[in-house]
Amino acid sequence: MSKNTTDTYWMKKALSLAMKGTGTVSPNPRVGCVIVNRFNEIIGTGFHQAYGGPHAEIIAIRSLKEAADGATMYLTLEPCTIHGKTPACAPVVCDLGLSRAVIGSIDPNPQVAGRGVQMLKDSGVDVTMGVGTKEANWLIRSFKKFITTGLPYVTVKVAQSLDGGIASSTGVSKWISSEESRKEVHALRGEVDAVLVGKQTALIDNPQLTVRELKGRNPLRFVFDRNLTLPHYLHIFTDSEHSKTIVCCAPSMKNSEKAKELAKLGVRVLPVPIDKKGNFKIIEFLGILSDQFFVSHLLVEGGGAVVSAFAQAACIDEFQLFVAPFLFGAPKSMATLPVALSPDEASKYSIVEHKKSGADLHIIAVKTDSGKEFSERMF
Ligand SMILES: NC(=O)c1ccc[n+]([C@@H]2O[C@H](COP(=O)([O-])OP(=O)(O)OC[C@H]3O[C@@H](n4cnc5c(N)ncnc54)[C@H](OP(=O)(O)O)[C@@H]3O)[C@@H](O)[C@H]2O)c1
Repeated sequence: MSKNTTDTYWMKKALSLAMKGTGTVSPNPRVGCVIVNRFNEIIGTGFHQAYGGPHAEIIAIRSLKEAADGATMYLTLEPCTIHGKTPACAPVVCDLGLSRAVIGSIDPNPQVAGRGVQMLKDSGVDVTMGVGTKEANWLIRSFKKFITTGLPYVTVKVAQSLDGGIASSTGVSKWISSEESRKEVHALRGEVDAVLVGKQTALIDNPQLTVRELKGRNPLRFVFDRNLTLPHYLHIFTDSEHSKTIVCCAPSMKNSEKAKELAKLGVRVLPVPIDKKGNFKIIEFLGILSDQFFVSHLLVEGGGAVVSAFAQAACIDEFQLFVAPFLFGAPKSMATLPVALSPDEASKYSIVEHKKSGADLHIIAVKTDSGKEFSERMF
């Protein structure tokens, strides 16, 4: 195998190890590491497993079957240089006597931002960048937003008909998308820290918003219900995960009888600041999610009013769109409020992936300024 093919092969392994931290490391990044000796044999592996726990490279070093001098380390994110919940990793990696390190991404944390790579170079390690970088950037996209802005990364998931309908004219949306697409949505829920729906969606669809089609951690469930009018028989209030449900209400409802009734059910109530029209201030809401709930990735699951509020606040980082091949006619659309008066004024997104998902087309689009970081991923 050529050096390039070998690097791609081992980086792919490191990336799939990183994926194993999905749902357990947030708001930290998912990171994987493979250490290979001079005979191209694997001698150590690791991935970041738990928030606050040892980093991927430290776990890989602890797993070493032999000394790592002359070896190559494949690491999806550069080693950190700061003492956070654990000591800095870069000095430990420098002491191994590696001959090479192949690094996927530069750490977006401004306190690290290339210093880990520089430390490796200064200690004589030959550093290769650019292998699996788009995949590695994709893995840490929510961490990047969280660490650089203090706000969660927002993904909007929508299932729609060919004519843009998210529900029929009578409000029915079960099921627009195929079984395969719904499985993808369950995987997405396992990846994020929290999901959000509006009151009408909670009422009409009575969704569970849990991970059921595959293994994964259930996210927190937020619902926008300004006046706390949702009935208590809904799944989100009665199932075994009800302590993960948080109802967002107007500040005036904070100490209301309805809030007390929800508290008795074990459901939390969260007052969210409102604007002059009585709508929640979306950026403030996102700030509360990160400050009080450590949410670094939020999945907005509709309906149209909630998606519109996020679109108007220019707070959508990514769309996961499932387009089903049928027509509703007179449909209810994803964004019902005006967002832009002309295509020139519209927020721009880039399609970074499109694939068949059962009978549907699954499109992933991200804000154009970050599109080139992930587009045309190899694996
Ligand atoms: N195809 C899909 O992917 C999909 C996904 C989800 C839902 N749906 C469908 O979409 C329909 C529901 O959508 P919808 O647009 O009618 O309703 P919705 O977005 O689910 O809920 C709207 C309600 O949520 C609260 N809300 C929304 N934005 C708010 C804001 N910025 N500030 C404060 N409160 C806010 C308000 O309740 P209060 O006024 O009571 O406070 C508002 O009336 C259903 O038919 C459902 O089946 C489809």
